[in-house]
Amino acid sequence: MKKIEDLKVLIDNKTLIKRIKELAKEINNSYDIKKPLTLICVLKGAAMFYCELAKYLKMPLKMEFVRLSSYGNSTKSKGEVKSLNLSLPNFENENVLVVEDIIDTGLTLDFLVKFIEHNCCAGDVKLAVLFDKKCARKYDIKPDYSAFQVDDKFIVGFGLDYQGFYRNLDYIGYFE
Ligand code: IMP
Ligand code: MG
Repeated sequence: MKKIEDLKVLIDNKTLIKRIKELAKEINNSYDIKKPLTLICVLKGAAMFYCELAKYLKMPLKMEFVRLSSYGNSTKSKGEVKSLNLSLPNFENENVLVVEDIIDTGLTLDFLVKFIEHNCCAGDVKLAVLFDKKCARKYDIKPDYSAFQVDDKFIVGFGLDYQGFYRNLDYIGYFE
């Protein structure tokens, strides 16, 4: 079991919030802000990033939540996506932005984007992630917006967990 005493700070809260505000600006600038946008939160990990990002978006916003899991209690992807709640409305050609904590192998987001494209009549589907762990990518999928790049470490905090814990930290930490 990893212990909080062994946790090192990777990104402090001030840096996280500043970068999320910048990302929101980038998103506002690349959409027509008069058009509605549905923001989809991938629970549980994206919860904090999602709420923070939503505060600064200027378009008429709808908020949806799905719950997916691919890690279980491990620190490596198990290679299959468990969909715990995937009820989404018909988007009637409106724009959709999927918000996720971290893209690792790409399995989760590849699965979700394909699901939305096949089942929800969305217009444009884009992806925003707090972290892009590019070195671990196995699926051909690229986020449209990403706040930070991270190398091959297991990180926790600001929504990200290890065995269900540490999601409430207001910073990003890693275990040495
Ligand atoms: P993927 O499907 O392999 O891209 O994995 C994405 C999911 O794995 C994310 O939504 C996270 O829940 C989890 N994940 C990947 N890397 C980390 C990490 O470093 N810390 C915590 N969770 C992670
Ligand atoms: Mg996740």
